Amino acid sequence: MKPSFAIVGCGKVGAALGIFLARAGYTPAGFASRSLSSAKHLADIVFSDQVSDIPWHVTRSANVVFLTTPDSAIEETCSLISQNAGFSDQAIVLHCSGALSSSVLSSAKTCNAWTGSMHPLQSFASAGYRNNPFKGIIVSIEGEDPAVKIAKAIAADLGGTAVTLLTEAKTLYHASAVAASNYLVTLIDFAAQLIQEAGIDRKDAFNLLKPLIEGTLSNIEKVGAREALTGPIARGDVQTVQKHMEEIGSKRPDLLALYKLLGFYTVDIAAKKNTVPESIIKELKRITT
Ligand SMILES: NC(=O)c1ccc[n+]([C@@H]2O[C@H](COP(=O)([O-])OP(=O)(O)OC[C@H]3O[C@@H](n4cnc5c(N)ncnc54)[C@H](OP(=O)(O)O)[C@@H]3O)[C@@H](O)[C@H]2O)c1
Repeated sequence: MKPSFAIVGCGKVGAALGIFLARAGYTPAGFASRSLSSAKHLADIVFSDQVSDIPWHVTRSANVVFLTTPDSAIEETCSLISQNAGFSDQAIVLHCSGALSSSVLSSAKTCNAWTGSMHPLQSFASAGYRNNPFKGIIVSIEGEDPAVKIAKAIAADLGGTAVTLLTEAKTLYHASAVAASNYLVTLIDFAAQLIQEAGIDRKDAFNLLKPLIEGTLSNIEKVGAREALTGPIARGDVQTVQKHMEEIGSKRPDLLALYKLLGFYTVDIAAKKNTVPESIIKELKRITT
C-alpha cells in the first residue's frame, strides 16, 4: 500500500503534488496552509475533508509530509510542527525547494522523522492543473536514506525521473538551474536589444532570433556545447569581435560589459575546441578583458 501524505502550504507546487499524488494512489491525510481557504480548495479537489490552518493538526497522521510553503517559511514551519510533536515516528518530511537542502528540516529529528528534499525541475505557474506537470521532468532528491528512498518512489509514481544529489551540492545545483533558465532569458533579452538597435521592432525580435536559438539548442543536443560553438570567436576572427565591441560601445555602451564578459568565457570554449591558434586566443582574451 502506498504511504499517506499531508501537504503544508497549498500553493502552486503543493496543489500539483496533492492532486497528482492522490491520482497516483497515495492517500491524502490532510492539507494545511496559512489561509484555510487554500487548504480547503485543494482538499475539495481530492475529496478530502482533513483541512486546517494549524499544520500539526493534519501532519500527525501522515507517513509523508510535504512542506511546500515559500522557501523563507520552510525552516520555521518545520520547527513549529516539531515543537508540537506534529510528525509521527519515522515519518518522511520533504520540502521542494531547489535552493535549500534538507538540513533546514533538522528540527524534525526531535520527532524521530527522516528528512529530505525533492525538487521538481519545472516551472509551476498556476495552481490549476489539467495535465500532470511532473510527467517527464527531472526530480532532484537529497537527504537521509529512508527519505531519499521514498522520494524516489514518489518521483517515479508522479511520472518524473529521480536524480540524487549530495546534500552539500544543493546550492551549486540550484545555481546551475538558474543559469540554464533565468540567465537564458537574460541572454535572449540581450540579443533582442542588440537586434533592435539594428532597426528590428521589439515585437519581431524574438521570432527573428528563434530559428537560430532552436538550431543552436539542437546542435548542442547532437554534438555537445563545446563542439556546437560557431561564429567569430570559434573562427579566431579578432577583427569582427573588435568591430562588434566598437559599435556596441558607441550605440549601446550599457551592453558592452555583458558582451565582453560573454566573449571572454566563449574564448575558453574556443580554446578547448583547439581550432584557433594560441596567439589568436591570447589576443581574443586581451580584447574581451
Ligand atoms: N513555483 C515553481 O515554479 C517552483 C518550482 C520548483 C520548486 N518550487 C518550490 O516549491 C515550494 C512552494 O513554492 P510555490 O511556488 O508553490 O509557492 P506558492 O505558490 O507561493 O505557495 C506557497 C503556499 O504556502 C502558503 N504559506 C505561506 N506561508 C505559510 C506558512 N507559514 N505556513 C503554511 N502555509 C504557508 C501560501 O499561502 P496561502 O495559504 O495564503 O495560500 C501558499 O499557498 C518552494 O519551496 C519553491 O521553492 C517552486
